Amino acid sequence: MRTCWLNGAFLPEDQAHVSIFDRGVLFGDGVYEVAAVVNGRLLDADRHLARLERSQRELQLPAPRSSAEWLPIMQELATVNGIDEGLVYLQVTRGAAERDFAFPSAPTPTAFAFARPKRLTDDPNASGIRVHVVPDLRWQRCDIKSVAMLAQVLAKQAARQAGAFEAMMHEDGLVTEGGSSNLWIVRDGVAYTRPLSNDILAGITRDVVLELAHGAGIPVRERAFTVEQACAADECFLSSATSFVLPITRIDDAIVGGGVPGPVTQRLRDGYVARARSLTQPA
Ligand code: PDD
Repeated sequence: MRTCWLNGAFLPEDQAHVSIFDRGVLFGDGVYEVAAVVNGRLLDADRHLARLERSQRELQLPAPRSSAEWLPIMQELATVNGIDEGLVYLQVTRGAAERDFAFPSAPTPTAFAFARPKRLTDDPNASGIRVHVVPDLRWQRCDIKSVAMLAQVLAKQAARQAGAFEAMMHEDGLVTEGGSSNLWIVRDGVAYTRPLSNDILAGITRDVVLELAHGAGIPVRERAFTVEQACAADECFLSSATSFVLPITRIDDAIVGGGVPGPVTQRLRDGYVARARSLTQPA
């Protein structure tokens, strides 16, 4: 049985319980992070934890642990569960209190974490995935990595029902992001991704891909694009901690770039995997 971590203790998953009065359960009043594990070691956990700190600050959520304290807990979860490749999920909520929308006066946060295996460096989806276009139904603080995600649940369920791997969310025709990923297109050798704002999550993978593109001499413009432009692009791809870089070869019924992963996407995926392997290399 999997070992999880809850409020200071490592526990078998069937003993890790939270209250029905937890504000994460009642209001989605909490934040989370997901970091990849490669070679049994966390990837870019420092960046994920910096974003967790920001999400907590934006919601005035008391931080139960510092980033330096989270790191060994997350690493231990990967290790005790024997995860060679996979992910570690960490969530912090405002804790249990009598149901009242406004914050309780002295909240005790609830924190938990778990790990799970997933193929990352040899993801079978690396041959290309399909996305399904849906309107973005979310609120105006998508920069906060909140656990209140009903709009993404509906978007990704609609995608699954349409036989697609991910949703492509848009607002008035302008692509915002994927259900749980950032989206990119490539046209005439230039990569485009939406600029950071309150409309999207500042993806850690997005950041790394920007750095890799820069290092490889691939020009990038942080500029919004439309669904139509994505369908007509030479290449399209997504980035996220749990998928790295995945080629998008179909947008609903539109075939992108001949239906095969394009060269820029391939270079960025290969570069991302190489970086992940080298950062997590066993000593
Ligand atoms: N989701 N946009 C949204 C809405 C996301 O939920 C995610 C990540 C991203 C990509 O961010 P990053 O590169 O830091 O993973 C963008 C995680 C993986 C999840 O919810 O499982």
